[in-house]
Amino acid sequence: MNNNYDKIANHYDTLSRLVFFKSQVNAQVDQLHHIPKNSEVLIAGGGTGWILEEIAKIHPGGLKIVYVEISAKMLALSQKRDYKNNQVEFVNLGIENFNTDVLFDVVLTPFLFDNFAEQRAAKVFEQLNSYLRGGGQWLIVDFSLDKGVGNWWKWLLLKSMYSFFKLLGIVEANQLIDMDPYFLNRGYQILEQRFYYRDFIKAVIHKKIK
Ligand SMILES: C[S@@+](CC[C@H](N)C(=O)[O-])C[C@H]1O[C@@H](n2cnc3c(N)ncnc32)[C@H](O)[C@@H]1O
Repeated sequence: MNNNYDKIANHYDTLSRLVFFKSQVNAQVDQLHHIPKNSEVLIAGGGTGWILEEIAKIHPGGLKIVYVEISAKMLALSQKRDYKNNQVEFVNLGIENFNTDVLFDVVLTPFLFDNFAEQRAAKVFEQLNSYLRGGGQWLIVDFSLDKGVGNWWKWLLLKSMYSFFKLLGIVEANQLIDMDPYFLNRGYQILEQRFYYRDFIKAVIHKKIK
């Protein structure tokens, strides 16, 4: 299992909206004003690419975006998006196999790490950390069991989602990896933290200090 969403690419957005209404979308859209103009942006696991159109509403041009998606079907859908005058390089690879000399101003990983087992999460974190320039921002959104209240239904929903994706043979993870310690260890500063869907979705802007 390599977390490739090819099998459900055509239905992913509908499924997401059915279960989470627009919470997954809102959590990401609310972060986008942090992207500076004319910046270099790396998006890993962008799915069907709707985020490119949301970014283009804020920055209709001037951005250089590298869009790395392991699913060829997700990538094909993303390529059809209207990303205005931004320059987008589409890369059909797992982020762990993507190498670059570019130092990005912003890295986005929306609902990426919750697919990963610990080893891959650790590897991808270090890799993306090395691709982000000092002072750059990492926009991460994932599910969260941080807040104690109501954890039983979150736990149940999470289990059901992992079982569903396991049944389809897509996702390798069996449990959520808490990514906070990784950012802490590397000295990132939290610029903003927001919760959605009764605190089940956590969206954080981390700033790389050095
Ligand atoms: C849960 S979906 C989220 C999609 C999108 N971010 C959204 O919120 O609508 C995860 C996406 O990450 C992609 N993905 C999973 N593992 C990946 C990897 N190692 N490198 C790049 N993309 C990956 C999947 O193909 C899928 O499109």
